[in-house]
Amino acid sequence: MFITFEGPEGSGKTTQIRLLAEWLQNQGRSVVTTREPGGTRIGNGVRALLLDISHTEMTPRTETLLFNAARAQIVHEVIRPALEAGQVVLCDRFFDSTLAYQGYGYGQDRAELGRIIRYATGGLTPDLTIYLDVQPEVGLARKQAGSTQEWNRLDARAVAFHKAVQKGYEELIRAEPARWSVVDGDLPAQAVHGAVVALVASRLSVGVDLWIAEVLR
Ligand code: TYD
Repeated sequence: MFITFEGPEGSGKTTQIRLLAEWLQNQGRSVVTTREPGGTRIGNGVRALLLDISHTEMTPRTETLLFNAARAQIVHEVIRPALEAGQVVLCDRFFDSTLAYQGYGYGQDRAELGRIIRYATGGLTPDLTIYLDVQPEVGLARKQAGSTQEWNRLDARAVAFHKAVQKGYEELIRAEPARWSVVDGDLPAQAVHGAVVALVASRLSVGVDLWIAEVLR
């Protein structure tokens, strides 16, 4: 099963992926967690290029191709092999981020982006995509205040850009309601975790009583 997490910066994806991975492991599942851009040696090199705050001259087209170069590598090296081995894969961002940021954020043609994404992924699509819903301003403020996370070139874009990204996500969710689930990211982390577990448990057809017991524990 392939589960991706999307949402604005500072929406708590990293924490939720860690908690969900622990929960799945306690259920006896084998789990692989990874993130975009990055997750491979080559992808981490591409990530450094993308996030470098001094790379102000990077065009949206270059950005799109770099994200998708990293994506092609992670799909080939990590995600497909894990899925073929029957593992659950949790990925922090996937192609929906390209559609939201490079598409809706920069106004690049989404049909063209779709073709690039298809080339990079070979058509791999998540079984479930969880959107952690927080207002972009709140997420950015959380991230800026955090001591462990670095403020990067992509965070530094204007609030109007992040608003366009948010609207983009809303459209993506409306277009594919069966794949997406929205969770209120303003709730305390444990409550968000409970909601995430409920979604995943229902997809994995784990008994609902099992996760309720777990969440209430
Ligand atoms: P990161 O520090 O990993 O942020 P986050 O914790 O919010 O995921 O930076 C990733 C940034 O890259 C984030 O601003 C979203 C952006 N991004 C794109 O613009 N397009 C993409 O295809 C992907 C995967 C990420």
